[in-house]
Amino acid sequence: MATNLTWHHNLNYQERKELRKQDGCTIWLTGLSASGKSTIACVLEQLLLQKQLAAYRLDGDNIRFGLNKDLGFSEKDRNENIRRISEVSKLFADSCTISVTSFISPYKADRERARELHKESGLKFIEVFVDVPLEVAEQRDPKGLYKKAREGIIKEFTGISAPYEAPENPELHLRTDQKSVEECAQIIFDYLVTQNIVL
Ligand code: PPS
Repeated sequence: MATNLTWHHNLNYQERKELRKQDGCTIWLTGLSASGKSTIACVLEQLLLQKQLAAYRLDGDNIRFGLNKDLGFSEKDRNENIRRISEVSKLFADSCTISVTSFISPYKADRERARELHKESGLKFIEVFVDVPLEVAEQRDPKGLYKKAREGIIKEFTGISAPYEAPENPELHLRTDQKSVEECAQIIFDYLVTQNIVL
């Protein structure tokens, strides 16, 4: 880290929240490829925006086209991917925006670091386990990636040749083989109401 840096303050979070008339937070969706993270995130973002709430989606594939285009899928690169997204989602939350992230984020330690980072700044972090049995994700295979992973064309593929460490105590646990996308998005929305994030 560079030296001779000074943190610059303007408004604190409470002052910004009063002016924006909205609370911020990060809703962290984690799960296997094809578990439904991005689809749920899209529906949730729409629900929030329709209620005139500032919400913004950060998506694994999309972020890898820009900010994280230098990263691949080794453990080290995934750690760095999630570290950067943790910082970015924290900034969105701090700006009183509801940030909805959809990354596989397969390592518990990375997700815990994201939670800590938010906690240190007094920002809310809601981990949502988007859960589906591997067999179901593999049957869905919307991008044909599981097939390629089984054939050895894609290396280090989550669930096949790279690990996925399931959350132990997520705020929400959604089974996408048992509930529709709309139901899952509504469950998250209702949770935000119980937490007074959405009034
Ligand atoms: S991670 O593990 O959190 O760093 O991954 P993420 O940034 O969410 O990117 C996942 C998307 O990248 C595509 N893809 C792969 N996923 C897993 N393993 C390997 N090896 C891989 N290669 C490419 C895939 O489209 C993932 O998108 P989703 O939406 O999860 O299917």
